[in-house]
Amino acid sequence: MSEMIESVLHEKRVFEPAKEFAQRARIKSMTEYEALYKRAEEDLEGFWGDVARELHWFEPWSQVLEWNLPDSRWFVGGKTNISYNCLDRHLITERRNKAALIWEGEPGDQRILTYQQLHREVCLFANALESLGVKKGDRVAIYLPLIPEAAIAMLACARIGAPHSIVFGGFSAEALRDRVDDAGAKVVITADGGWRRGKVVPLKDNTDKALENSEISHVIVVKRCENDIAWRNGRDHWWHELVADASAKHEAPAHDAEHPLFMLYTSGTTGKPKGILHTTGGYMVGTYFTTRMVFDLREEDTFWCTADVGWITGHSYIVYGPLANGAACVMYEGAPNYPEPDRFWDLCEKYEVSVFYTAPTAIRAFHRWGDQWVDKHDLSSLRLLGTVGEPINPEAWMWYHNKIGGGRCPIVDTWWQTETGAIMISPLPGATPTKPGSATRPLPGIIADVVKKDGTSCAANEGGFLVIKQPWPSMLRTIYRDHDRFIKTYFGEIQGFYFAGDGARRDEDGYFWIMGRVDDVINVAGHRLSTMEVESALVAHENVAEAAVVGRPDEVTGQAIVAFVTPMSGVAAGEELGVELRKHVTDQIGALARPAQIRFADALPKTRSGKIMRRLLRDIASGSTAKGDLTTLEDASILEKLAQERGDEE
Ligand code: WTA
Repeated sequence: MSEMIESVLHEKRVFEPAKEFAQRARIKSMTEYEALYKRAEEDLEGFWGDVARELHWFEPWSQVLEWNLPDSRWFVGGKTNISYNCLDRHLITERRNKAALIWEGEPGDQRILTYQQLHREVCLFANALESLGVKKGDRVAIYLPLIPEAAIAMLACARIGAPHSIVFGGFSAEALRDRVDDAGAKVVITADGGWRRGKVVPLKDNTDKALENSEISHVIVVKRCENDIAWRNGRDHWWHELVADASAKHEAPAHDAEHPLFMLYTSGTTGKPKGILHTTGGYMVGTYFTTRMVFDLREEDTFWCTADVGWITGHSYIVYGPLANGAACVMYEGAPNYPEPDRFWDLCEKYEVSVFYTAPTAIRAFHRWGDQWVDKHDLSSLRLLGTVGEPINPEAWMWYHNKIGGGRCPIVDTWWQTETGAIMISPLPGATPTKPGSATRPLPGIIADVVKKDGTSCAANEGGFLVIKQPWPSMLRTIYRDHDRFIKTYFGEIQGFYFAGDGARRDEDGYFWIMGRVDDVINVAGHRLSTMEVESALVAHENVAEAAVVGRPDEVTGQAIVAFVTPMSGVAAGEELGVELRKHVTDQIGALARPAQIRFADALPKTRSGKIMRRLLRDIASGSTAKGDLTTLEDASILEKLAQERGDEE
């Protein structure tokens, strides 16, 4: 366990929700929370049915839940449209002319779209997609910067019933190719480029590379950076030209509640990312409900989730959840420290953001950049803060609380996953006393526990596996085209329960403390990566004989990647090869997978049966001596050599 996480475990302070906050909150006390939780636990279907009725259904469901472990169907027979619920539903209310998206590009350009305008753009683009032959059930890949067109494209796909598969703009051409192929996408939507730290990210070039041998018939390109790009006549279309010819009328069709809404690829324990599949009705209900409860949204709030739509956090809390609630959402394209390390606070001040949701890595980075960047700004509009993606250490929590929140804003530390679709464990800001580093208690309707391998509950403070014992509406339905892997990964580890892959403990107050992954998934800056994925990329290089990748604790990014590499015989280890391998990993996966350190070795520590002993490598990578049982190690001298090797640090 990392030192950071250990210090989390020893944090004892408790912060009560401020009275003024609690008075106006939806759930005002722990008594109210307990009552709601109990109600949901006793009548899961009744509880979720009531939530779902707050949204629009073209046809009602006949049954809330059909559960044949591990397969769930929610709102069986119900017909709805999430795009309708995020847009059309608001147009007959006073929200019609309210800001839906308040967008700022990295260079400082702005665009504000009201619900009426966003609806119009979505209808135009839905018609444009249909004019290219996109039909219900066709998959559409989206590889865009964080610009309004990303949300428009998502909502247009959802409207038609064409599942989208968003590939984060930081992924390489290779990674895009794999995801487009696996999804069997019919169309790719991209941009000439996106702005990041003052430079253009060449998204169209990457797309061209990814599609070199592909038969994809249509690529739609947003003009964003006006950089030169290659063009393939017949295949490539400018977004603005397509919508110029389209009609602004698009009636939202009724989709079955279980119609696939999107897939999103995420790292698992093997080298191959998994296409997590979510469906329409349950995901809509889950994101709607959690946005409302966890962020306690009010009509006048300005909500900013700083994630990218390329990750689940962006799907659920930039687009679907907030828009289903009729919220005003800030969206920002670029880097947090461009042109200066106060860009986020500048935006918070300018748009008077009231609810702010970000990752611990960002908080730690801002803390490190210095208080002077925060002090320049008036952050008095903030009333609620949130974190997601990784455990937050008490030091970062306290800084966030005092420096950003002025000591008055509750912090919601939200635990959830790509697979869960929506927040699962989190404080309710007007009710739950918070303890820095704990995501506190499960939301009503979420039956979570910490158990031993045999499925029995752990005692208070005993470490174990985090599981969910009953289905919930926004749970993944499968891994796209690999239902066996779905069953094995999530329901094969602990009999009868959903296995999250995280270690956790529950304290004497029933608060959950997430201790990090118990599999070969590492979490770098809140981004999930599989060690196998990085290893496969490394061994694909002609000069690499063998590679093993582990995580080591990092003060800012939580974990950092350390790669142990054995070069092919006759190849010189050293800086030059390090540079080459980092470039190679960036090309294969993306810059987010670049090793922070590469350590060359003549051989890797293995068991007598030939398995690489990662546990030892983790110890070495984190700077401690290899501990534990070494008797199965085949050649002990390897360890000594590895420990002495200084490594090529970036
Ligand atoms: C980790 C991101 C501690 C966890 C929404 C989980 C967290 C993985 C928290 C999912 C939190 C997420 N505290 N750890 N509040 N939130 N995690 O799929 O290990 O990108 O399994 O979803 O992030 O990452 P994913």
